Amino acid sequence: MRAVICRAWGDVEGLTLEDVEAPEPGPGQLLIDVKATGINYADAIMVAGKYQTRPEFPFSPGLETAGVVAQCGSGVTRFSPGDRVMAILKYGGLAEQAIADEVETFAIPRRMPFDEAGAFPVVYISSHVAIRWEGRLEAGETLLVLGAAGGVGLTAVEIGRAMGARVIAAASTAEKLGVAREHGADAVVNYATEKLTDRVMELTDGQGADVCFDPVGGELFDAALSSLGWGGRMLLVGFVGGVPQIPANRLLVKNRSALGSSLRYYRWHQPDKLRRSVDELVGWYDAGTLRPLVTHRLPLEESVAAIRLLMDRKAFGKVVVVPGAGGA
Ligand SMILES: NC(=O)c1ccc[n+]([C@@H]2O[C@H](COP(=O)([O-])OP(=O)(O)OC[C@H]3O[C@@H](n4cnc5c(N)ncnc54)[C@H](OP(=O)(O)O)[C@@H]3O)[C@@H](O)[C@H]2O)c1
Repeated sequence: MRAVICRAWGDVEGLTLEDVEAPEPGPGQLLIDVKATGINYADAIMVAGKYQTRPEFPFSPGLETAGVVAQCGSGVTRFSPGDRVMAILKYGGLAEQAIADEVETFAIPRRMPFDEAGAFPVVYISSHVAIRWEGRLEAGETLLVLGAAGGVGLTAVEIGRAMGARVIAAASTAEKLGVAREHGADAVVNYATEKLTDRVMELTDGQGADVCFDPVGGELFDAALSSLGWGGRMLLVGFVGGVPQIPANRLLVKNRSALGSSLRYYRWHQPDKLRRSVDELVGWYDAGTLRPLVTHRLPLEESVAAIRLLMDRKAFGKVVVVPGAGGA
């Protein structure tokens, strides 16, 4: 099979497309014929050797996929060959076939096409576990979302809206804010041209937001923390702009908390919540509440360009790689 291969830590331009042996599913694993693999910012971080996990060389990046079950390893009970599935992967999605653990594999909703399914698991489930279980967002509260037209950002906007919150979307361009509005944001802030804290205070009558979903960090973090009101919860989701430091006094004075949320570890620590998140998300999808946005569908040979779109801040919603396609 063809696969995008990483043989050394570095830039994504070092990735190569190669013919390799198809992987074999071990106990509790599935071999999936890949139809679509969603690109995540973390793919670039993994190839650079800076992700939470560092696979052994050679490996294929790709943290999620959708396709058809080709083969089941021993002990697999929920799926059979021929089933349409989507999965969170350790890595390996940028290939014609990928290995998934059954515990992080889910049936694709009947009406969901493969490109949406390949882009669904990481962003929707990550945003959901952060907002529902760590942020404990309640209907009527205000959710501030940074990077609101990006992968996890846009799904956070939709999820906040689905949970009955008022959503303030923050991003760097008018076009991105337009996308966030189309996906349910009630109000927007352009943090390239406006002062984030001032604008959030204005939009909340000086009360501040209840929850902030932050996949950006860096220089925006401080302003985002100041935008939180009494009892505000800061969700630490990602650090595309750099890892911020938290001044403890700024938490104390307003009873704020800062909460880390990592999808990667839910399967080990809270598998029940992982399942409940997927059930709620699939229910919302079936009801038409969630509208996954896939803006680019690129063939496997253009995987590097696909990852570059995210690194260059040119992506909206999700970019997917479709191994069987000539691109679009
Ligand atoms: N904790 C978890 O479970 C979890 C799960 C998934 C992803 N993540 C993390 O969340 C972050 C975002 O991932 P993603 O896949 O959603 O990425 P993405 O689609 O590329 O979105 C990132 C957004 O961040 C903003 N941004 C600000 N500074 C940036 C910079 N220097 N470079 C690139 N983007 C920048 C961009 O919006 P503007 O241009 O509007 O600022 C962009 O839309 C990553 O750090 C990723 O590892 C965490």
